[in-house]
Amino acid sequence: MTRNYLIAGNWKMNLTATESAALAKEVVQLVSQNSSVDICVSPTFTALDAVSRMVNGSQVSLGAQNMHQEVSGAYTGEISASMLESLEVDYVILGHSERREYFGETDSLVNQKTVAALQAGLKPIVCVGETLEQREADQTIAVIQSQVEGGLASLGADCADSLVIAYEPVWAIGTGKTATPEMAEAVHAEIRAMLTGLMGESAAQKIRILYGGSMKPENADELLAQANIDGGLIGGAALKADSFISLIDSAAKQSN
Ligand code: 13P
Repeated sequence: MTRNYLIAGNWKMNLTATESAALAKEVVQLVSQNSSVDICVSPTFTALDAVSRMVNGSQVSLGAQNMHQEVSGAYTGEISASMLESLEVDYVILGHSERREYFGETDSLVNQKTVAALQAGLKPIVCVGETLEQREADQTIAVIQSQVEGGLASLGADCADSLVIAYEPVWAIGTGKTATPEMAEAVHAEIRAMLTGLMGESAAQKIRILYGGSMKPENADELLAQANIDGGLIGGAALKADSFISLIDSAAKQSN
C-alpha cells in the first residue's frame, strides 16, 4: 500500500509576514507539481493571510500553530477555528509541547481544541511526547498513552481522515538530538495500537502519525522508512526552503 505522507513545517515564533510570504513563495516554486506528498507550512498567526495568498492554488497547504476552543466571544488575544478557516487554513497544530510547557495546556484542553477543530472542518495535528526525565524513568509509553487517550477523548472513527498525530519527544525538539529510527518506530507502533484500541483497526491505519524532533535531511530517509512513521512535523529545518524540500523529497522517495 502506498502511503500518503505528510510533511508539515512548524515555523513557530519566527519570521514576519513579509519574510514568511517570501519563504512560502520559495517552497511553492520548488515543490514539484503533482507531488505525491501532502505538504503544509504553519506560519505565525500574523503571517497566515500573506502565506495563504502565496500558497493558494499550489500543492502546499496552510497550517496554524494553535487555536482557541470556543467559537467566539470575550477571549482577548485568541483566535477561533472560523477565523482560521476564513484564511483557507487546513491544518492546526494542537497541544505542542511548547504550549503544554509554557502555556499550561492540559490533555483536557487539547481535547476541547481538537473537537472544536474537527467540528469546524480543520485537520488537527495533535502533538504528544515525553520529556527526558520521563523517558529515563521508563514512563514514555504511560505518558504517551495518557496524552493520546486524554487528547482524543470522545472522538470516533469518523475523524480518521482528518486527524493527524505528531510524536515529538521533548528532548529531541530543537536540540539536534533525534530519536533513532528504532526508538521512534517503537513509540509510533504503540500509538498505532492505542488508536486501534480507541477507534478500531481501519481508522487507526488511516490516521497519520508524524515524527517531530530535529528531523533534517540527514536523518529523514531512515525515519520515514519506518513502518509507522507517516511524515514529519519539522521546526528548524522547515525555516529554509532547500532543507524543507529535501524532506519532502525523502518522503516522495518512500512513497514511490
Ligand atoms: P525541530 O525540528 O526544530 O526540532 O522542532 C520540532 C518541532 O517542535 C516541530 O513542531
